[in-house]
Amino acid sequence: MASIRSCTPAILLGLLATLGDAAGLLVSHYNGNLYSLSFIQDGNTGQLAVKQTLKAGGGMPSWLTLDSDTGSLWVTDESTYGSPVLTQLQVGSDGTMKVTGTSKSNGGEVHSSLYGGSNGKGFIAAAEYDPSSISSWKLPITGNTQAVQKLTYTMSGRGPVASRQDKPHPHSTFTDPTGKYLLAPDLGADLIRIFAIEASSGKLTACTAAKTGGGDGPRHGAFWIPRAGSIDGTMLYIVNELGNSVSAWTVSYPSGGCLTLAKTQTVSTYPTGKSAPNGSKAAEVHVAGNFVYAVNRNDKSFGSTSDSVATYSITLETGAITFVEATNAYTYYPRTFQINKAGDLVAFGGQTSSTVAIVQRNTTTGRLGPQIANLLVGTRGGAGNEDGLSAVIWNE
Ligand SMILES: *[C@@H]1O[C@H](CO)[C@@H](O)[C@H](O)[C@H]1NC(C)=O
Ligand SMILES: *[C@@H]1O[C@H](CO)[C@@H](O)[C@H](O)[C@H]1NC(C)=O
Repeated sequence: MASIRSCTPAILLGLLATLGDAAGLLVSHYNGNLYSLSFIQDGNTGQLAVKQTLKAGGGMPSWLTLDSDTGSLWVTDESTYGSPVLTQLQVGSDGTMKVTGTSKSNGGEVHSSLYGGSNGKGFIAAAEYDPSSISSWKLPITGNTQAVQKLTYTMSGRGPVASRQDKPHPHSTFTDPTGKYLLAPDLGADLIRIFAIEASSGKLTACTAAKTGGGDGPRHGAFWIPRAGSIDGTMLYIVNELGNSVSAWTVSYPSGGCLTLAKTQTVSTYPTGKSAPNGSKAAEVHVAGNFVYAVNRNDKSFGSTSDSVATYSITLETGAITFVEATNAYTYYPRTFQINKAGDLVAFGGQTSSTVAIVQRNTTTGRLGPQIANLLVGTRGGAGNEDGLSAVIWNE
């Protein structure tokens, strides 16, 4: 029988998993590395550690898309010079990542989503911020993978926020609850682009886009369904990077037509009486239970390197949102966050601090805090620079 002394780190972590509550996280960093983290929780404290550092994901790994059923992981590359790639990896049961395929990409990818095929995972679509495009590929990714489509957009003039809305900037892609539509908020064009999915070919056909408020700069979105198993009352919550707000949209499925959106509300990501500090920008939005969460970058609400997260409650009957509170995201420039499946922990990823913070979440009240673990991952970024940590997700 093997003694503890002869155990590999992976076996030791397995042993620890039986002692405390062990979980894993995956991180991408603009320094060109991916990281696998272990997280061990013991009541109201926890410990994060880097288990693996892997150079993969291109020059600027920007986003992580995980299929938790199979352990397949995809990484987008934001670099627009050199040889940008789309990377597919396999994540083992101990959290170890291994590259299984890379394909040439267009570069400038900032977010991606699985869609289409027989199970909603046959293809991947990426938002390409700087190239003003949305591209898609058939999975799995291999050296021979060709893009299914590259849809490129133009604008006749600049948008209301001239410095940022110089041209279209698709910022994310995600499917609706039926899996029949793909949505892509476009920060530059103030549009939520909507596509009908042809499942077998992965072909995206444009529907009429939804127009946001001028200068909103929509970035990410999250759906909410009042009752499981029904699409009645479906809502979409979009975080507006330039407007520093969350907009609520009702979602309709007219027979014989495309998914349509109607905006019902736009609510600030700051408490009443507080406006967005100069240089701050909202980033990411998630829904858990009947609550919506959106993070602010560079608002320094809780100290010179501690930004805030806004919590909203959702009214069941209407899908309307109400600002509950701003709490500490325990990170600087939180570009990314994810709530775990149990709904009791939130992982925040600070881009500039290059830290991961684990914060408790009360599944009944939706309230966040306190922080129970924090870890520097890779090199710190510089304020306002496109460096530092780019994404964090739970590996579960
Ligand atoms: C906001 O910050 C930018 C960049 O630091 C600066 O150029 C601008 O003058 C600031 N605006 C205000 C109103 O302080
Ligand atoms: C969640 O909040 C409720 C109401 O304040 C409280 O009774 C409950 O103990 C909290 N749950 C946890 C796990 O802290």
